[in-house]
Amino acid sequence: MSRYQSKGKTMYIFYKAADLRSHLEMRASSSAIGFIPTMGALHEGHLALIRTAQADDCYTVCSIFVNPTQFNDPSDLEKYPRTPGKDAELLAKVGCDVIFMPEVEEIYPPGSDQDFEMDFNGLDQVMEGVFRPGHFKGVAQVVKRLLDLVDPDKLYMGQKDFQQVAIVRHLIRVTGLPVQLIVVPTVREADGLAMSSRNVRLSPEGRRRGPAIYQILLAAKSKATNGIPSAEISREAMTALSDAGFEPEYFEIVDAETLQPVQTMQEARKVVACVAAWLEGVRLIDNMALIS
Ligand code: PAJ
Repeated sequence: MSRYQSKGKTMYIFYKAADLRSHLEMRASSSAIGFIPTMGALHEGHLALIRTAQADDCYTVCSIFVNPTQFNDPSDLEKYPRTPGKDAELLAKVGCDVIFMPEVEEIYPPGSDQDFEMDFNGLDQVMEGVFRPGHFKGVAQVVKRLLDLVDPDKLYMGQKDFQQVAIVRHLIRVTGLPVQLIVVPTVREADGLAMSSRNVRLSPEGRRRGPAIYQILLAAKSKATNGIPSAEISREAMTALSDAGFEPEYFEIVDAETLQPVQTMQEARKVVACVAAWLEGVRLIDNMALIS
């Protein structure tokens, strides 16, 4: 364990699950525990989750763990930015109460049962699930382990990873874990690019092109409002992404609950456009509610 002082407040950093557990059990505060799982390389998007938990009067616990089981591409795992010192400073500055920064062996002890199986009811068979096989199994596995450990009252996650939220909502429902999921809107740069830890890997030229994703989502929203069929909107968005220098993987217009594609906006209560595209070898994802 280590301590971090900022503005007269102490933030605790734990590396061992057992130390974190005993701290949470013995803590003086009686407020609800708000938990924010992250993979570090923190930015304003992550900090918005911390601030939302604080505004809810939670005792705020943030985990930083680059979870190997959710990376289907070993080079993505290797290149994933790691900035623990800077992360701790940012978290202390916003007044986070606890950081949990485990090593891989702490979450997946050698010899322990590494298996995780869950039926996601088709939520893992579309979009990210098609292009990143096994990704959501790894996400659900680590989120379940972290929730068991932290045992929070509230879990804060970002709308930026729309399909991840659907998977975690399903996980909570199926396991019956007593935690409330709170979804925080996507935080964007001033030019519309959704904040992401991966953005630091873009060159200045790539960074300049990045916001086209947001513009293409806005255009899709306006077309949807004007009654243009989804298939046509998606086709045009894929072309626009290629023209803007991206290699698009998908641009899908889906029912926000089932994540299944819709043909028209009338087919679902809430419709969302979700996109994944490569730029300079960096995979970017984003989404926008079209009708809600
Ligand atoms: P990571 O990508 O670090 O994101 C941690 C949390 O921050 C997620 O809930 C994500 O949706 C949210 N987030 C990221 N960028 C955001 C933005 N621009 N605006 C709002 N929220 C944003 O997502 C993961 O880590 C992992 O899959 C994890 C859930 C920690 C499991 O390993």
